[in-house]
Amino acid sequence: MAEENKNLRTPIVCVMGHVDHGKTTLLDQIRGTAIVKGEAGAITQHIGATEVPIDVIVEKCGDKRLADKFIVPGLLFIDTPGHHAFTTLRSRGGSLADLAIVVVDINEGFKPQTIESLNILKRFKTPFIVVTNKIDRILNWKSHPGESFLSTYKKQTPEVQGIFEQKFYDVIGHLYEQGFSADRFDRVTDFQKTLGVVPISGLTGEGIPDVLMVLLGLAQRFLESSLHYDVNGPGVGTVLEVKEEKGLGTTVDVILYDGSLQKGDTIVIGCLGEPIVTKVRALLKPRELSEIRYESKFQPIPKVTAAAGVKISAPDIGDALAGAPVIQATPETLDEVIEKVKSEIDDVQIQTDTDGVMIKADTIGSLEAMVHEFKKADVMIQKAEVGDITKRDIMEASTINDPMHSVILAFNVKVNPDAEELMEQKVAHNVKIFKNDVIYRILEEYQDFVKEQEE
Ligand code: GTP
Ligand code: MG
Repeated sequence: MAEENKNLRTPIVCVMGHVDHGKTTLLDQIRGTAIVKGEAGAITQHIGATEVPIDVIVEKCGDKRLADKFIVPGLLFIDTPGHHAFTTLRSRGGSLADLAIVVVDINEGFKPQTIESLNILKRFKTPFIVVTNKIDRILNWKSHPGESFLSTYKKQTPEVQGIFEQKFYDVIGHLYEQGFSADRFDRVTDFQKTLGVVPISGLTGEGIPDVLMVLLGLAQRFLESSLHYDVNGPGVGTVLEVKEEKGLGTTVDVILYDGSLQKGDTIVIGCLGEPIVTKVRALLKPRELSEIRYESKFQPIPKVTAAAGVKISAPDIGDALAGAPVIQATPETLDEVIEKVKSEIDDVQIQTDTDGVMIKADTIGSLEAMVHEFKKADVMIQKAEVGDITKRDIMEASTINDPMHSVILAFNVKVNPDAEELMEQKVAHNVKIFKNDVIYRILEEYQDFVKEQEE
């Protein structure tokens, strides 16, 4: 690593894509081959993330002379399941992810969550690559585990190459329809103009060296200025998940993207009411697999430095919100930090109209994404909130006379049992709920409903 750039933090890479297209397998492969190569110690498991240091990446890419060319210390891959990770990973109204990988099953092609992922990335202007996964499933494909794509491709028969080309250019065509000029990664000269697409198999590891290489290239080119940070500055992060853990009570899984955090530090965490002010009781990381003799899955650590995933155990954090900021404070900065956390949450309490529909979503980030998409489609919004659908929500919606507005649009949330009960009663006969786990599907369903009403 070049000396003068030691203070660049590890870029955060979010893996996105449709269910079952192979996000987790890709990350397992990146982790796994390194372990096979006897470098297990070099890969750091974080809470909700995996860190791959630059040396390991360069080693995998096969050319050691590259080591000095790269200025980032490695890559931190976020592997939260499902495609919601990205919107949860918000920070300062933008996205926490520096880079992203969109995984597409080459045999299945584009799916709703593929399109959703692309929409989100477009909106945040996040540099990303697409991988077309599962090339090993192409009829008669001969796998060459761990090889670069071009190397394995050249060893296929012309027939197999032909089938591959057809499927691959189908994906390129779909990307074009979504407004992206895209091409196979090795034919891209300017990654700022053209989206790089890497064919891979998460299962056999074919194409993985290329993925790492292209990601590093993107990090170098687009991120250098945004990766400077202060190792000794206050810890700043985002809540990925709020979780009950046996023996620990409520914990928050946090991705720290700036500064550092220590046991005993005072932290401020965003929630729907007044921000939570508490003290870090323990910082925890996953225990290495070789240490399973311990009862707890977690191991306490005294300090973490960005970028990192860490589990925080602290009193009174039950109301913490996924997607909310976590900022370290000192007695001198406490008031200022509370204000900062509050204003970040308030920004999300979204500009609403005097008349319109009600929106409910599971996290701050998904709520923001929803409001954005609906406003773009000129849907009026009276209320937008994080949380499950309550009896009160149904009551409120039932008092609205306009049938287009006595509507609750729900993303990834549940209907509480008492709310469900109320829905069956006469007072709520006018209330409609549209629920889905793909935002634009909710929008489509609602627009169809509006059309029906107008007819
Ligand atoms: P969710 O987290 O549920 O959204 O799925 P995911 O995107 O993480 O997919 P996952 O990695 O769990 O893979 C889904 C299935 O596809 C598993 O059975 C994998 O073994 C299989 N799979 C993933 N990648 C490949 C691949 O490259 N080749 C083949 N043949 N199978 C694959
Ligand atoms: Mg998964």
